[in-house]
This record gives sequence, structure tokens and C-alpha cells, in this order.
Amino acid sequence: MKRILTIIAAVAICLPAASQIKASVHEAADGQPVIPAELFGQFSEHLGRCIYEGIWVGPDSSIPNVDGYRTDVLEALKALHVPVLRWPGGCFADEYHWMEGIGPLEGRRKIVNNNWGGTLEDNSFGTHEFLNLCEMLGTEPYISGNVGSGTVEEMAKWVEYMTATSGSMAELRARNGRAEPWKVKYLGIGNETWGCGGNMTAQYYSDVYKRYSLYTRNYGSNALFKVACGASGDDYGWTRTMMQNASQLMDGLSVHYYTVKEWFHKGSATEFTPAEYYTTLTTTAVIEDILRKHMEIMDEYDPERRVSLVLDEWGNWFDVEQGTNPGHLFQQNTMRDAMVAAININIFTKFVERLRMANIAQVVNVLQAMVLTDGPEMVLTPSYHVFRMFSVHQNAVRVPVEYGCGKITSEDGRTVDDFSMASSRDASGAIHITLANPLLDKAQTVEISFDSLKPSAVCGEILNASEVSAHNEFGKAPAVAPKPLKSISKNGRTLRVTLPAASVAVLEIK
Ligand code: AHR
Repeated sequence: MKRILTIIAAVAICLPAASQIKASVHEAADGQPVIPAELFGQFSEHLGRCIYEGIWVGPDSSIPNVDGYRTDVLEALKALHVPVLRWPGGCFADEYHWMEGIGPLEGRRKIVNNNWGGTLEDNSFGTHEFLNLCEMLGTEPYISGNVGSGTVEEMAKWVEYMTATSGSMAELRARNGRAEPWKVKYLGIGNETWGCGGNMTAQYYSDVYKRYSLYTRNYGSNALFKVACGASGDDYGWTRTMMQNASQLMDGLSVHYYTVKEWFHKGSATEFTPAEYYTTLTTTAVIEDILRKHMEIMDEYDPERRVSLVLDEWGNWFDVEQGTNPGHLFQQNTMRDAMVAAININIFTKFVERLRMANIAQVVNVLQAMVLTDGPEMVLTPSYHVFRMFSVHQNAVRVPVEYGCGKITSEDGRTVDDFSMASSRDASGAIHITLANPLLDKAQTVEISFDSLKPSAVCGEILNASEVSAHNEFGKAPAVAPKPLKSISKNGRTLRVTLPAASVAVLEIK
């Protein structure tokens, strides 16, 4: 207890005194970009219980399912409007051989999942099961192809199998139950090729990329959007080499950034001090600098911004829950995760001139998941609620915002804004504003002025809890769930909203 009190004091010194924020929303600004729906993308990997149990239980399961997909998770994901789903990895992708996951079940090879706990993988969830899921969810598939241990021929045939209208691969697909090709837009050519995807240098991989890119073809009307493997965090040299050598052949270049305190001391997902909470937030805020610097380098080689920056893995990474397989990366999800989700999504909207996709890791039962399952039970996480509340920005036109706020400094000297905000206008003309107050000990009132809009109808939702470590547990009433936001008042072109400590909110203004 003494340690906790000391830490609170140390952090409190750095907290700003102000609890009143003044913000301007320039809803009349012209020429603003659309916020791509794909910034709300998800990532599904053959890792732990993400695919098996989390999404796929098989048609014979006692867990209610639709053709093998568990009904509760399917419904939860439909409500989230998942725009894009990446699969099958991650590190798993570079040991995945797609041909082992098609055809009659009894013929599918059983393999050891070498990356993730040595678990037996029976390949019962393969290409058909994944692409059919995407169709059921109305989601764009993002296939992550095997460069590390695969071949150009294998990836080329995979694309042909999924998308060609005729030829031997299309015939094989039809014999396996699917006559029509699927639509597959996003193709990742390798994952973390600097590490688990092959331990390559950027120079070497940029040449490898060009070979794969050449032979992965468009069939019929299917047009691939090819994503080259990008940097880990702040490895700007990787981005420079890739842009110098291969930018003409790519549609996107990825980057991965996880919010992790220290790789060997990640800390508990649910038990943390105020100082650890703030360290998580300042670590997540580093992403703003990382995105900006990668974009600056890309601008040197591609000033028209044809090539997208694709943040295809991000999120909180904590220690696994006690008693679970360390290789399965199962972690709980608290209001701290909700705060990280909100701060990141608001940051992403600043970079949409080039940042056109982001996939949080991973959708079910792994890292910063949207839903967690335990046998037949399922809970929605605080991160899920933020993704659902903030999804109003999907395909909406960004509205510029300005506000003054203070900084929170964590023990390691890093900083994060003590307030977060973004805004957009949807196709119906409604303005949405997403807000976060990360301060643990102080409510903040924000006074929002519009250029010319006089709000006639305003409503909102808020997500907060009695403790920032609150999380939703199996078999208990949800401790974290959104509620209507009541603390809103309006006066002419101005709105006043009060955000309790450690809260996330969305407003709709008409
Ligand atoms: O998300 C877990 C792992 O993190 C992914 O498989 C890999 O790409 C990254 O290192």
C-alpha cells in the first residue's frame, strides 16, 4: 500500500491543474479526407483460443453455432461492423501451408503450432471457413501470405484458388464446395519478415517482395491490394529501404506497434498501480510519433501518397492470465484497455491522409481482444465497447478539431495528452465527436464551439467504471458497459460536456 501511495504522489506532481477544456470543432472546413472504415480492422490468428473455441467450434459442438461458427461471437462481431479481418497470422502465417487446410477434414494434415505453445493444429479452420466467415460478417478478408517458409508458387496458387473463375485451382475449389470465387482484396506478402517471418534484412526482403508481388495475379474482376511487410515500431531504416526499392510494386506498407512496458516484464492486465496505468498511456501515445515519422519517409518517395501505411498489428500486450498457457497470450481487458483503444483511434484519425488500415491484435481471446470466451460463455470487453461506440467514424469525413490540454508525465519521462478528441461528419450530415478523459482523479468539462452549427439534437454514450481496473468476467453482470451520457448542455453554438475521471464518450450532434 505504501508503494502505491508513493507512486500516486509522484504522478500527481505532473498532472495539470486545469479541469476545463476549450475545444473548437470546424464542421464547416472543406476538403477533409474520409476516415477509412479499415482503421477499425481486426486480426484473427491461429493462436491460443482465437480461432478454435473463440470463433470456430465446428458444426457438431454443443456450443450454439451457425455452420460451426459460434453464434454469440458471430452476433457480437456483426454488431461491431468489422471492416477488415486479417488471417491466419501473425507469426503463424509464415508456417501456414494453405493446401493443408482445404478439402475433406479427414485429409487435412495435423501440425504443431510451433509459434504458439506447440498446440496441435488440425487445420479444420482453413481458407473456406475463413472466407465464408468474412462473407457472413460483410468483412473484407486480409490474407497474410507465407513468405518465411513458403514459396512463390504456393502463394500464387492460393490467390488463384481463392479468386480465379476458371482453371485447375478454380476446379479444385469447386470440388471442395465453392464454385464462385471469393472476393479477396488485401494480400499481405509476409509478416514480420525481419523476425518470425524469416529473419531477413530489409534489402533482401525488398527483392523477395518484388518476386511475390509479380506472381500474385489479379483474376477476373478481383483486384488485389498488396501490402509489403513493414517495420517494427521505430525502425525507420526498414521503411526507407522498402520505399526506395519496392514502392512502385506495393499498395501498402505495414508497421507493427504494441503497447508494452518491457518485453520481459509486461505486467498484469488487471492489477496495476496508477503509475503503471499512466505508463501504459504514455507508451501507447508514442504511436503518434511513429506514424508521423514513417509517413514523412514515405512522403519522400511517394509524395502523392499512393502507398498506404497499414498498421496491421497494434494494441496492449500484458502478461498472460495466471494458469493459462503462456504461449496462448490470453489476457483480460479493463477500462485501461478501453482508454488505450480510444486514444489510439482518435490519434489514427489525424493520419488518414496515408494511414488507411489498422488491425487490433487479436479479435477474440488473445491480447487486446474484443470478446473473451470460456467454453459456452462469452463477454464483451471494454475495448469492444470503444470500437462499437467509435465506429461512427467509419467512412465519415474527418472534421478538424482544436483544443488546449495538459500533459501527463509517467515515471519514465514520457508524456500523453490529458484529453483526447476527434470528430467526423457521416453521410446523413450528423457530426460525431469521440472523447476520452484519461485522468484517474479528475472529471473534465469540455466546452465545444462549432463554426456555425447550432446543435438542435445532441445525444451520447459514456463508458466508465468504478475502478479503472474494472473488467467483465464470465458468469457475472458486466462491470463495464456503455450508458447514455447525460452531462451535456447546449447554448447556441456551444456544448458543454462533463467527462468523469477515466472515461470514454461519443456524442452525436444534429
Ligand atoms: O500478435 C502476436 C504476434 O505478435 C504476432 O503473431 C506477430 O506478428 C507479432 O510479433
